[in-house]
Amino acid sequence: MTQLEIVGDGVGHTGKDWFYTDIVKDHFFHPRNIFKTAEEVKEFNADGVGLVGSPACGDGMKLFIKVKDDKIVDVKWQTYGCGTAIASTSAFSVMLLDKGGLSIEEALKIKPKDIADYLGGIPPRKFHCSVLADKAFREAVNDYFKKSGQLERVVEGSAKIIDKILKITDHDIEHAVLEGAYDLEAVQRKTKVGIHDKECIPIVEKLIKTYKEKYFGE
Ligand code: FES
Repeated sequence: MTQLEIVGDGVGHTGKDWFYTDIVKDHFFHPRNIFKTAEEVKEFNADGVGLVGSPACGDGMKLFIKVKDDKIVDVKWQTYGCGTAIASTSAFSVMLLDKGGLSIEEALKIKPKDIADYLGGIPPRKFHCSVLADKAFREAVNDYFKKSGQLERVVEGSAKIIDKILKITDHDIEHAVLEGAYDLEAVQRKTKVGIHDKECIPIVEKLIKTYKEKYFGE
């Protein structure tokens, strides 16, 4: 991608327009802590690496961390993602390195909504791009825990089947919410969850509420 489409300035992530804030534009045009060459990756000698793909768009994100005394002392990243993914990850890396680096515990408390707030908001349809950085970071921390023998601290998130007939998982519902499906009807339009397996509907409604709170603070 060579150009970020700029159609205005300043709308929150709950807004309805496709506007980018000046902070988003700044981080897109001047990304912080990004790897530019393969040599830089080698020299960095990461303590943990997280690689994730976005089910929403197929883009990828790789994030590298250095850890000392349980603090994130350095972060670098690479992505095939869009302008919002670049801006979100750049901003996230700055947040992680605040005041010389957050503790792992503090860093894991940062949510995609905090990244969006730091950027002054991102268009709702692009929210999944900030989730990519968050997920890659959590993978990198898990990788660090495994490599440093702290297996009891590893948090694995395996998908649970919610709709037993269509085999729809909680991750499918999470992705639908991130794509802008904020109620049962909208999630069903995207996933068909509960169309045949009606017993799962109360769980689906609960999950929609949980993901809305988690990502959008609603
Ligand atoms: S559209 Fe793929 S990361 Fe933004």
